[in-house]
Amino acid sequence: MENTAIGTAIGKIILIGEHSVVYGQPAIAIPFTKTSVKTIISSGNGPVKLDCFYHKGSIFTAPKELLGLTTVIKEVINSFNEKLEDFNIKIESSIPPERGMGSSAAVAAATVRALFKFFNQELKKEELIKWTNISEKIVHGNPSGIDTALVVDERPLYFIKDKPLIPFIFRLKAYLIVADTGKPSKTQKAVANVRDFINTRPREGKEIINNLGLLTKEARSLIVKEGLEKLGQVMTKAHKLLDQLGISNRDLNNLVSTALDNQALGAKLTGGGQGGCMIALASTKDQAMGLANKLMESGAKNTWIYNMGVD
Ligand code: PMV
Repeated sequence: MENTAIGTAIGKIILIGEHSVVYGQPAIAIPFTKTSVKTIISSGNGPVKLDCFYHKGSIFTAPKELLGLTTVIKEVINSFNEKLEDFNIKIESSIPPERGMGSSAAVAAATVRALFKFFNQELKKEELIKWTNISEKIVHGNPSGIDTALVVDERPLYFIKDKPLIPFIFRLKAYLIVADTGKPSKTQKAVANVRDFINTRPREGKEIINNLGLLTKEARSLIVKEGLEKLGQVMTKAHKLLDQLGISNRDLNNLVSTALDNQALGAKLTGGGQGGCMIALASTKDQAMGLANKLMESGAKNTWIYNMGVD
């Protein structure tokens, strides 16, 4: 057992394909290095204490928001034949929770990494995926696995559920602006709402899902060809389809309109939706900075600029 061990993980952004990815369509996601999680485990006395955004105190009195994380911690410790005592877990995160940026998967992955280090155990990638997915299933209900794949692999992915990971390395002379509405995105509820939509209006629902899949495939070839303007249009089309599915809301639509009115090449919500974040595409850094300012004036609570050629 070490005295202290640290595990880290980064956030993610879904460029296109959220929700339709749950139904077997592809999605494109990128690691978002501007945000990260650090889990620090250190020796202590008595029952394990947690110190994180949702809770400060015994792991046994953690709130329901942490059920995914506490379950995975308990199961990992059990698999080591250890007890939930004599160590403490502190989680520091710059990934805003419930914003569609993969916070729950990143927190679980960083914590599993730290636990394995603390107990001097070797951690294979497949095991990290397995443990992180245990938490994701509790948090999201029926996850496609895209968040776990991204936080474990830390490379851009062209992701298809239950298929081997397809790394999708690209460099685009473009900037992505991420803006936070400041309101939570409840992924599990949003995924359930899409399922209800498809059950009650199957023809329309399936057509929207298929069209989102087609847009994702088009986005992939546009990224390869560096067809930026068309890529922006494809993103905006995807946003409209997600809105038809009931996944957008007034705050997200307002920020998407602001971006489009201010020279963005395209804009859409990202992640679970019904709150959380949106993204906009810009071709220069100046445009990206101008857009970030306009988005803040329009109600965004935070923005990040991501250089798609470098970051
Ligand atoms: O809201 P996030 O960051 O967890 O993204 C979820 C992506 C969905 O496609 C909506 C759900 C999933 O499991 O793929």
